[in-house]
Amino acid sequence: MPRSLELRQARAAKKDEFYTQYADIQKEVNAYLEYNPNVFRGKTILLPCDDPEWSNFTRFFAENFERYGLKKLISTSFAVESKQSKWYEPTLFETDSPKYDKDKTRTHGKIFVLDRDVNNSGRIDIEDLQWEYLQGDGDFRSKEIKALRDEADIIITNPPFSLFREFVAWIFEANKQFLILGNINNACYKEVFPLMQCNKMWLGPSISSGDREFRVPDEYPLEAAGWRIDDEGIHYIKVKGVRWFTNLEHGRHHEPYKLMTMAENIKYSKHKEVKGIGYLHYDNYDAIDVPHSDAIPSDYEGVMGVPVTFFDKYCPEQYEIVGIGTGELAGALGIKKNYRGRTDLALTKDGVSSCPYSRILIRKKQ
Ligand SMILES: C[S@@+](CC[C@H](N)C(=O)[O-])C[C@H]1O[C@@H](n2cnc3c(N)ncnc32)[C@H](O)[C@@H]1O
Repeated sequence: MPRSLELRQARAAKKDEFYTQYADIQKEVNAYLEYNPNVFRGKTILLPCDDPEWSNFTRFFAENFERYGLKKLISTSFAVESKQSKWYEPTLFETDSPKYDKDKTRTHGKIFVLDRDVNNSGRIDIEDLQWEYLQGDGDFRSKEIKALRDEADIIITNPPFSLFREFVAWIFEANKQFLILGNINNACYKEVFPLMQCNKMWLGPSISSGDREFRVPDEYPLEAAGWRIDDEGIHYIKVKGVRWFTNLEHGRHHEPYKLMTMAENIKYSKHKEVKGIGYLHYDNYDAIDVPHSDAIPSDYEGVMGVPVTFFDKYCPEQYEIVGIGTGELAGALGIKKNYRGRTDLALTKDGVSSCPYSRILIRKKQ
């Protein structure tokens, strides 16, 4: 394998081992319950690509099993020998169990199931989780995990960063409801954008800016800005651009974005590129460039190029997504070749041509 590809894969694999914090899961899930208190009632939830012994996803849904009226909770992990990262510590929970197998612990995934009051405590809770080794390594693409996917109603997880495209395809192949974490830039992937465009997938409401903190393995290189080690020696890093992707309904999804008219923007916008100036027209496509989503002119009837963060405010009743301004899908939209000979949107200002960073094209609905 070429060295550059090897390095790229290693870098991507490190990002596969980011673990989600409890408060982030809670905040997001609360928004769906607010919209529909019965969203999880009678449902089987699958948490794939997890680490059930200490995953906050498993803990969160096991603790709330009765409150949400769940039918069944299934959580599966991926075997360390199949992971790119070899960071692994079997927990006391596993090593103290009569089921513990010192070989399988490295080569097999695990499955945790919660569906009844095993210990006769009078309630179903985290103490009733039952576990065993999977037959295979827990790869979400395996037959074994596909069968669990098919049994589930809702898939919830933070999937491996490097397999986001495949993970989304895997969900859609089975036509499931889902709530997964990813990066805002994933919305521009040619496999993902069409799903966002036709409103089969949208962003969750609780994260729309800033960064989020994730637990990382102790071996993770803490070279980036924004890391910390807590009192118990647990390592965390801050990650920018994180978003929830879902097809579960929530209130924000149908709230129209409150915007100023074009005249108001030119008079009052807080953005220096717009105030007193207005909007540039693309050189190679019939649309205006809007450099910030909050500067979208509410009364403009034509097509507008806006940053991908527009998806944070996207209300399908208010705007139509016409297409994307870069890459293969841009060519298909009829964007002409620009000064670089590519079908990316281009602008010319004061005689200097440039390509704005990742624009999506939108139009107001009548
Ligand atoms: C981003 S982490 C998230 C872990 C957990 N869901 C959480 O949020 O706390 C993704 C997990 O998926 C695992 N993984 C990587 N490739 C996988 C695959 N093909 N099938 C299943 N899990 C995989 C990684 O090893 C890692 O444990």
